[in-house]
Amino acid sequence: MSGVDIAPIPFHRPFIGKEEEEAVLRVLRSGWLTTGAETLAFEKEFAAFLTAEGAAPPRALAVNSATSGLHLALEALGAGPGDLVFVPSLTFTSTAEVVRYLGADPVFVDIGRDSFNIDPAALEAAIIGAFRAGDKRPKAVIPVHYGGVPCDMTAINALARRNGLSVVEDAAHTLPVNGGKTPGGDVSVFSFYATKPVTTGEGGMAVTACDKLADRIAVMRSHGIDRSIWNRYTDTDASWYYQVTAAGFKYNLPDLLAALGRVQLGRAVQLLEMRRAIAAAYNEAFSPLGEFITPKENDAWHLYPLRLRNPGPAGPRGGSRRNALIENLRRQGIGASVHFIPLHIMPYYKERYHLEAASLPLTMECFNSLVSLPIWPGMSEEQTGRVIEAVKTGMGNLDA
Ligand SMILES: Cc1ncc(COP(=O)(O)O)c(C=O)c1O
Repeated sequence: MSGVDIAPIPFHRPFIGKEEEEAVLRVLRSGWLTTGAETLAFEKEFAAFLTAEGAAPPRALAVNSATSGLHLALEALGAGPGDLVFVPSLTFTSTAEVVRYLGADPVFVDIGRDSFNIDPAALEAAIIGAFRAGDKRPKAVIPVHYGGVPCDMTAINALARRNGLSVVEDAAHTLPVNGGKTPGGDVSVFSFYATKPVTTGEGGMAVTACDKLADRIAVMRSHGIDRSIWNRYTDTDASWYYQVTAAGFKYNLPDLLAALGRVQLGRAVQLLEMRRAIAAAYNEAFSPLGEFITPKENDAWHLYPLRLRNPGPAGPRGGSRRNALIENLRRQGIGASVHFIPLHIMPYYKERYHLEAASLPLTMECFNSLVSLPIWPGMSEEQTGRVIEAVKTGMGNLDA
């Protein structure tokens, strides 16, 4: 035996150490498992993490997923039937489904050329078109920082302000660690899903500088009850008493998961540097090869989306050469994925809104050609090298 590690390389593996185990054990033994002191501490630390020295921290509200956070943000902003919410199509279904939860309608907007993010010019055209059509009200936009690539928030915010729209940042893929990037929208929503830059298994955080929005989100994440469970537990004034002020949701993050999140947040910069090193190795290997478009530097390296210049003829599942490459990688034990299958070609949206794939040409071009390679902290240099070799072998076999 050569002793070379030939174990499969999964698409993702979370980075969980002794500190995470100890934090969860501490909560398990504390006698308090649900939302309480750990969650409050996590919220405070998360807000501080996003805040420049000397600046006032925003309010951070822990929730049980980014999907819940996006839903709560739109609800707090008053989105409802008759409203239009502008979203990219190159995103996970959460970004648009929350619009439907509230009876509003998503409008899918194309990405920019050489970008994975919503294009401000296309957004402006879509908003103008909606005002002209006049039957529904443009209400909000949800930009997604794809894989950690920051959207042009200056342009998006200016456009939104000019047209009276709210901005909910879908920051599920990102976690800016540049010390002081303030959240870019009315509400910013982060994800702690298993594969995300900081994970609690499942979880999320809604962040806003607006007290009114924060107060509404806080109440609605907890059944519309005007008093948190922790407040009732710790307050001596009639701990049994509460008022239901709205038909809210059950979206709170339990202490068990918040404890995990606090340790992960402490590691966030270290984990980012580990992913960044993998991205640098991939870029060094793939950039000189004419057949790829490699991704530019970004805030989080949640994904490493490699694009094929010649993805082959596109079928319903995208470019045929791209698909064959993913299959070749699978045969070599390498997990790869596609982020994302555009929402405007998903049966639900396509049929409900009579959408054509070609209506968002840059989104389709991107979908047809991209493959997400493994990029998780803890991947060894040897594993990174094996992925690189597997991609080269996989490409070599494409047209054989
Ligand atoms: C862009 C985007 N938005 C929202 C979500 C939803 O996150 P969560 O799983 O925390 O609800 C995801 C999850 O993958 C995502 O990729």
